[in-house]
Amino acid sequence: MDGGIAAVALGGAGLLAGSLTATFGRSGKTPAAAPAPAPTPTPSPSGTGGGAAKVSVAASAVPVGGSAQVKDPATGDAVYIVQPKAGQYCGLSSVCTHSGCAVDAPKNGQMYCPCHGSRFDAATGAVINGPATKPLPKYTVTKDGDKLDLGPVQS
Ligand code: FES
Repeated sequence: MDGGIAAVALGGAGLLAGSLTATFGRSGKTPAAAPAPAPTPTPSPSGTGGGAAKVSVAASAVPVGGSAQVKDPATGDAVYIVQPKAGQYCGLSSVCTHSGCAVDAPKNGQMYCPCHGSRFDAATGAVINGPATKPLPKYTVTKDGDKLDLGPVQS
């Protein structure tokens, strides 16, 4: 009773696939450090706009009851600089607080939104009639010689 143990030897066919080296892709190449981008100029160390560029308009462009349009450098939104009473300046956002349409320039003491008919007080930004329920954001405007500087949003 000898159970013949068959030792199977695979002679000669013993090539192991140990030399499969996947050499696709990069090996050992580390990307060089990208040059740091040049810092963008940030004017207005003396400005009031929290690091944004200063925006000004000639005071003569804003008569009593009139307006001049500028852009809020922080948001890009249009802002009307107004002078409702002599020597009294402020800025009012042109972005309707109802759904974001552009309100018309001040006319007869009001600013009208053509989308759904809201009206705002052109001196304060307060809602005169809806559907808007919130006033237009109001900006500080300061007179500096013959120019008016747009300041930060007050509310
Ligand atoms: Fe101005 Fe609707 S977006 S009234």
